[in-house]
Amino acid sequence: MPQPALNTTASFQALHAHYAAVKDTSLRELFAAAPSRFEQFSVKAAGLFLDYAKNNVTAETMGHLFALARERQLETRRQAMFAGAKINTTEHRAVLHTALRAPRLPALELDGQQVSADVHAVLERVQTFTAAVRSGTWLGYSGKPIKDIVNIGIGGSDLGPKMVCQALRPYQQAGLTPHFVSNVDGDDLDAVLTQVDPQTTLFVIASKTFTTAETMMNAHSARNWFLQNAAGAQESDLRKHFVAVSTNVEGVTAFGIDAANMFPFWDWVGGRYSVWSSIGLPVALAVGFEHFSEFLAGAHAMDRHFQDAPLEQNMPVILALLGVWYRNFFDYRSVSIAPYHQDLGNFPSYLQQLEMESNGKRVSLDGATLEAASCPIIWGNVGTNGQHAYFQLLHQGTDVTPVDFIATLHASHQLPGHQAALLANCFAQSEALMRGKHADEVQAEMQAKGMPADQVAALLPHRTFPGNRPSNTILMEALTPASLGALIALYEHKVFVQGVIWDVNSFDQWGVELGKVLASNILGELTTAPDPQGHDSSTNGLIALARTALS
Ligand code: F6P
Repeated sequence: MPQPALNTTASFQALHAHYAAVKDTSLRELFAAAPSRFEQFSVKAAGLFLDYAKNNVTAETMGHLFALARERQLETRRQAMFAGAKINTTEHRAVLHTALRAPRLPALELDGQQVSADVHAVLERVQTFTAAVRSGTWLGYSGKPIKDIVNIGIGGSDLGPKMVCQALRPYQQAGLTPHFVSNVDGDDLDAVLTQVDPQTTLFVIASKTFTTAETMMNAHSARNWFLQNAAGAQESDLRKHFVAVSTNVEGVTAFGIDAANMFPFWDWVGGRYSVWSSIGLPVALAVGFEHFSEFLAGAHAMDRHFQDAPLEQNMPVILALLGVWYRNFFDYRSVSIAPYHQDLGNFPSYLQQLEMESNGKRVSLDGATLEAASCPIIWGNVGTNGQHAYFQLLHQGTDVTPVDFIATLHASHQLPGHQAALLANCFAQSEALMRGKHADEVQAEMQAKGMPADQVAALLPHRTFPGNRPSNTILMEALTPASLGALIALYEHKVFVQGVIWDVNSFDQWGVELGKVLASNILGELTTAPDPQGHDSSTNGLIALARTALS
């Protein structure tokens, strides 16, 4: 059913009127008026705690936002996704990453495929294979066990397993090191190849399509490197050092990887939603199948919450609606992700693909140009490092950027003092963004220090913080496989809900195609005569310069 343009819906218009009435009420005023905001605006789910009290919302705001979600038929759409309806309409595909982390029963069928049975059959293969590699039973061609895993993939075939391996660093098996190569820039592969020994290295070629140019080039280079550097190895030895993760069995076998060494998944798993599938193989290798299963179970717990909890207590729904409130009413154009956990260092870039490739769309499901804004820009870095880089802008810049703070109560390490210092910084930042420091407070402080009046006047605007800058804080007990699974699933469902509100297809990515086609044309022109003239003068000029360098 085509949806009306978002800005024409009754609940959007009600929100617009509400926005006009509340936009000048500051967070300080909201806290002063309702001392129990923390209890009122916080929710627990699947081992995560979300404090959303430091947002420019009242109970009335949230009521309007929930009404918007209902008017956009969120509950029906959610049900359709879990049931395997083909909600990825431009590719005629179901969206079933939730089935990858669901128990075997109840069984799920799609177009004659026994989804649950197939998922669990592949999981069993992953379990057997990872146990063999981790125990040293799987031997390289010269009889030595594997010490290094090199995942070659890009986008969803890289960002998920890379982020999760880093996040679960304390769970990694000593002596079995995961590496990730994604960029077509040979420096990426070269940097890894210089560290590893072909006799003890396992390459995982990860590509849903097995056609992605970067991955294919890196895979071929790795294969050549292996054959040139593995003393005494034959082509037939490749099978002990190359496995594939893909939906494309023909492509995998054409590359020279035996189908027996391929871990499949299916077209109903989007690349950026694929870490739960065999794309998670490097994770299972690094941390063990048991921990990988806990990771899946954590995500499943969040799925159940998202499916079953009323919208008013539904963490992904709340997170999504707050984002809509800021994007479509306050016109805030970016969201910063601030994990206060070093091992979550890759989480912001993971979310960049998840959110921006999913909802960075300008037309609705039925192809109409959107009249209201969609996905904001997602960016960020770990705290406390970000505080000494770009937090200046968050506190005093001309744009307001909502922040998601993410922290664990317990550290993964034993070093005394660090965790309290880290959490103190995290909580101080959200408080400072919310409260700011107003001119009268700054002035009183400088005067109390005996500063001359002319200096006070000159410094006052520079030292004043407007405050009223919103944030969420997501807390978990510790960074475990289960809590990490729940955290990722939280954001996946947030993206889903926002896609429903904005009425976009969150599961295709046509926007990345144009650049791929042009790059392949230019690649030909860089290496063949005569000088290309078919582009604009800038592109022609750049190609000509590169041709000279490459010739
Ligand atoms: O960047 C586009 C994209 O298609 C992503 O959606 C995907 O995760 C990535 O390329 C890699 O694709 P593949 O796994 O097919 O190599």
